[in-house]
Amino acid sequence: MTKLFDNKEIKSIENQILNVKNELLKTVKANADKLTRDLIVVQNCLYEQLESLSWLQRRLNIKGQLPPLRGWATSPDVLVRLHSHIMDVKPNAIVEFGSGASTLVIADALSQNGKGKLFSIEHSDHYGAQTLATLKAEKLEKWVDLRINALEPWHADHLNPADAEKPSYWYAQSSLEGIRNVDLLWVDGPPGATCLYSRYPALPAVVEKLAPNAEIWMDDTIRQEEKDICHHWAEAYEFDLEYYSLEKGLGRLTKSRTKALIVTKEKDLAVIDTTVPFSEKSLGLDFSLPEER
Ligand SMILES: C[S@@+](CC[C@H](N)C(=O)[O-])C[C@H]1O[C@@H](n2cnc3c(N)ncnc32)[C@H](O)[C@@H]1O
Repeated sequence: MTKLFDNKEIKSIENQILNVKNELLKTVKANADKLTRDLIVVQNCLYEQLESLSWLQRRLNIKGQLPPLRGWATSPDVLVRLHSHIMDVKPNAIVEFGSGASTLVIADALSQNGKGKLFSIEHSDHYGAQTLATLKAEKLEKWVDLRINALEPWHADHLNPADAEKPSYWYAQSSLEGIRNVDLLWVDGPPGATCLYSRYPALPAVVEKLAPNAEIWMDDTIRQEEKDICHHWAEAYEFDLEYYSLEKGLGRLTKSRTKALIVTKEKDLAVIDTTVPFSEKSLGLDFSLPEER
């Protein structure tokens, strides 16, 4: 019987199989390492949100369940900062664009302060009704003036190009009637699908109604659009801008111009306030151990 392969050829095939096996093992190991690293990142992110949620629950007076703080809702890490800031600063007037879990959390802080009013501007009857129901369930409705009106065309200054596929829309200007001396502007709407840079009008629409030391907080600054909006606002209206590297990112605009701006290589472009040792303290949160205080 004739042999299909001589010994040399068999050795060569064996070597090739060994090489393929080694390559496969290397690839499988690299993928497994990457998966492990990704899992650790996800696990740490989840832990941070759980930690914030736990702090938030300790601070809240509400008795019922919070709406799920995933998806469209504001993340726990921002909500706990909002709540702390409001309890620290005790604002008289807050304007919110985009109601939901944040409405409940802000109302709780105002109720604990015993003063202040939240003007919550919402475009959706459906989500507005949900927000009102949660407020009523907690007897917090007296702290909130929830104004639900359909969005309207916006013709003033905007980053959405004039020839954009979707024209610019914004909350009905009548929604802001009678509001003045706004201490905190919290921007979390309208939805991004409204048009490009959908949140841009927030500051132009309210700027004349701001109190001298007003702050503007923009949610979702891990998105480039929200970052661009914050940069334009900071330039156009002379605010200092600081980014917090939170789950979905938070942009904070303040009027004091004493801060040094340092661009770091955080996961998003971060501007750090070097006059404050760490951000939690500046927001009224202190996570340090007693002996470190
Ligand atoms: C980013 S959400 C506002 C979230 C709110 N600040 C909160 O903490 O829950 C912006 C708008 O999206 C709408 N919205 C809320 N939940 C939604 C959902 N699950 N699907 C579609 N739109 C939603 C509401 O009209 C809301 O005002």
